[in-house]
Amino acid sequence: MVVREFAERGADLELVGIQKRFPGFTAIESLDLTIPAGSFFALLGPSGCGKTTTLRLVAGLEEPTQGRILIGGKDVTATKSHQRPVNTVFQSYALFPHMTVLENVAFGLKRRRIGDPLGKAHEALRLVELDHLAQRRPQQLSGGQQQRVALARAIVNRPALLLLDEPLGALDLKLRRQMQLELKSIQEEVGLTFLHVTHDQEEAMTMADTVAVMNKGAIEQMGAPEVLYELPRTTFVANFLGQSNLFTGAVVATTGAAITVEAGGSRIVVPTARAQRHQGEVTVGVRPEKVVLHLEEPTATPDRNLLGPGRIIDVSFSGVSTQYIIETPGLGTVLVFAQNVGMGPAAAVGDEVWVSWDVEHGFGLDDDPAEAGRFPADASTRSIAVQQREALVTELEEN
Ligand SMILES: Nc1ncnc2c1ncn2[C@@H]1O[C@H](COP(=O)(O)OP(=O)(O)O)[C@@H](O)[C@H]1O
Ligand SMILES: [Mg+2]
Repeated sequence: MVVREFAERGADLELVGIQKRFPGFTAIESLDLTIPAGSFFALLGPSGCGKTTTLRLVAGLEEPTQGRILIGGKDVTATKSHQRPVNTVFQSYALFPHMTVLENVAFGLKRRRIGDPLGKAHEALRLVELDHLAQRRPQQLSGGQQQRVALARAIVNRPALLLLDEPLGALDLKLRRQMQLELKSIQEEVGLTFLHVTHDQEEAMTMADTVAVMNKGAIEQMGAPEVLYELPRTTFVANFLGQSNLFTGAVVATTGAAITVEAGGSRIVVPTARAQRHQGEVTVGVRPEKVVLHLEEPTATPDRNLLGPGRIIDVSFSGVSTQYIIETPGLGTVLVFAQNVGMGPAAAVGDEVWVSWDVEHGFGLDDDPAEAGRFPADASTRSIAVQQREALVTELEEN
């Protein structure tokens, strides 16, 4: 059956000590990566961090300055692009306008004189649920359907490894969400190894088994989406993958179970097992949806961190939840996401509030706060939230 044939061809991808220098610019400093056969792997990072360069290296469209690339255990570093068992789907999915959908998908097979090109093209189209439109021309399809044709055209070659470079970037938000789910189920069905690159954190988390967060040509952290989200190890990951409240201060007490950090006159406890550093100046944090807003001062308990009083400086209602920004003396701003279980926001700008969270939900980062962070020094939680919102608006406008 088709499915098994595809699955057998899925191959491990290994990047060993990869460096890529362009004249005057090092795009990738040192990259080591193993992607197991049959997995859906996402490389997530901001624009310019080296994602496309990494894919082009794997596809053989660029040569590494140093390092080796192995596919299915075989060293392909010196292998020409067209001889690698790799196909790429790009954001711009140029289909041949004068050919039907079926001819588009069969084109590569015909050119390489592979047997039964039309039968195989039909099979690939069935997989992306477009076989009923096989006789149409690309311009008679929606953007999402065209993207699926591009995917069928790549899958029909039965590559061991499918590279996807922001393939959904040209679609509108709703279609993109739908395609994310479809792409994921196609990958599960065919069992090929997918290497998907994106700057969209939600896309990476929804689709991939494993996410590698890339920053300035290096991988900061890699793991299952929920692990990365619940236990970010660096400031960059804490802020790029979702949002975080971060506090920096000195460790003033340690027990086997927890460290206590003094930040801006408040004490914050983090489980030792969830903290990367246990002494000196450290940065600790908590996700905004883990933080509870209190309109009256709650009784302090050892299992919760309590900060306040602070003052609400911004409330933004988004239907399912409300985002509060609270100015807390000595600590800067704290972001809280509260589910709208009542009717509308529970508090207003100017209200005096306290915030608390379960000690178990905190995390401690590995960054040395004395070193310059990768975000500008004045980037408080608030300005990052604003930056993210602006980025989203730009993205929506561009689409
Ligand atoms: N051919 C090239 N010559 C010089 N610099 C390049 C070249 N290709 C990419 N770069 C640089 O390498 C960096 C990474 O680019 P790229 O891999 O396209 O990033 P991403 O896909 O993550 O947005 C960027 O700063 C880009 O300007
Ligand atoms: Mg790119």
